[in-house]
Amino acid sequence: MNILYKNSKAIIPEGIIIPCFKDSVKNTYSINNLSIDIPTERLKNKKLFEGKKLETYTNCFIQNNEYVEVMLVGLGEKEKLTQRNYKKAIGKAYRQLKSKKVSSIGVYLNGIVNAVSCNYTIAKNTVQAILIADYNFDDYKTEKKEDKLKEVTLILDNINEDFINGFDEGIIVGNNITVSRELTNQPANVLTPTELSNRVIKLGEKSGFDVEIYDYDKIKELKMEAYLSVARASSEPPKFIIMRYHGNPGGETLGFVGKGLTYDAGGLSIKPTKGMSTMKCDMGGAGDVIGAMCAVAQSKLKVNLIAVVAACENMLGGNSYKPGDIIGSMGGKTIYIGNTDAEGRLTLIDAVHYIINHEKVDKVVDIATLTGSVVAALGTVCTLSVSNNDEFSDKMNKSFDESGEYVCRMPVFEEYYELLKHPEADLTNIPDRPGSITAGLFIEKFVGDIPWIHLDIAGTSYLSKKKDYMSSGAAGVGVAPLYHLAKNMAN
Ligand code: BES
Ligand code: ZN
Ligand code: ZN
Repeated sequence: MNILYKNSKAIIPEGIIIPCFKDSVKNTYSINNLSIDIPTERLKNKKLFEGKKLETYTNCFIQNNEYVEVMLVGLGEKEKLTQRNYKKAIGKAYRQLKSKKVSSIGVYLNGIVNAVSCNYTIAKNTVQAILIADYNFDDYKTEKKEDKLKEVTLILDNINEDFINGFDEGIIVGNNITVSRELTNQPANVLTPTELSNRVIKLGEKSGFDVEIYDYDKIKELKMEAYLSVARASSEPPKFIIMRYHGNPGGETLGFVGKGLTYDAGGLSIKPTKGMSTMKCDMGGAGDVIGAMCAVAQSKLKVNLIAVVAACENMLGGNSYKPGDIIGSMGGKTIYIGNTDAEGRLTLIDAVHYIINHEKVDKVVDIATLTGSVVAALGTVCTLSVSNNDEFSDKMNKSFDESGEYVCRMPVFEEYYELLKHPEADLTNIPDRPGSITAGLFIEKFVGDIPWIHLDIAGTSYLSKKKDYMSSGAAGVGVAPLYHLAKNMAN
């Protein structure tokens, strides 16, 4: 499917999406030689459509022997429109219209671009919403549904530079959200640490960043004992993936660390089948940093970005690390293993220590499907953050806002640090509640003084049910916020 932009004189699509604010549906929309008359009063009186938030109304018009499927979608009140709701509205309309087997869709933007006067944001969000709504994971279906839709056109009469910038950015970020979703949706029998590292090498070649992979011997030489303890019971070898992009030589360097458990069986503290069956998603954080890295490099942002993923599986075997073990870490601290299912933080602390001390990043964000308890705290719509730096955290929050994603920063009280202590080792890997916050603070112990943010996406990164604006499975939630953070730090 191809996405373009054109003015209304240059297109006759088979299907048209018309986003409308509440009570401002027009009686006639003109597109090329089509004049689409909407019975607005009737729709309102019968409460069929008035432009309320996420409301849709569809009808097939015939004009000059041409059929046009028209899809009205409500944006609600203009003053209350958020980027998130705009994307949901466009995504929902797109999926409904696509199901009508049209070969081309136009998205009529004339009215709303004038109303909100932000061409960049409308273009970016329209494109991203469409790319997110269009994606469906069907790699392993032997009979795939035929995709009749070939072309989607954003229709606007006054196309300016801002609009084109937003459009181009929307394409890059949207496509790389798909990269993250596609990696995360791969089953663990296919996406092993080795396969993940091979795919990153290819993505680096295509996007313009350098990739280096450390194998077992190098990981051992670096003394990443916490990471290797987790990886030990799997017959799949661990791969430490390093991605480097230098867009601002001499400037500061941003670091991303993604949790890369290509499968989390829980180890000897084995998960029940129900919880285990979706654990291919435990590299969602890795998918997001890889997607963000691709987007940053493809956009040629003037920023330095280094991202690392300590990829491995958390399995069970005669060689497993065990509850009750005391292990070391690259940072030197010892850790009591209370539960082998709290493995993500063990891989992350070595990765965080490495990126700060060997790659010399100035600021670091880690992103991870880290704790089940994040769902109890914030549900499945909001990512949780923990940070040691107000200014950096505010920047991250702004980037989430710009992406139409929710994030909520947790409070940190000094008593929480007491919970990390263990009588026999420096730290325990299962500090008491609040589990999502103390998991973050466990990682902070390996950060030192530099600005750091921890993002827990265990609730947000994987949808068990489809939404009307996107399919189920991996959501790629972190890609856009990480990209925008890098963009906001670029010169
Ligand atoms: N990968 C899981 C967290 C998770 C849960 C991700 C649900 C996605 C959906 C993580 O490794 C884990 O098992 N965490 C434990 C930690 C506990 C043992 C302290 C948890 O949250 O139950
Ligand atoms: Zn686990
Ligand atoms: Zn895990």
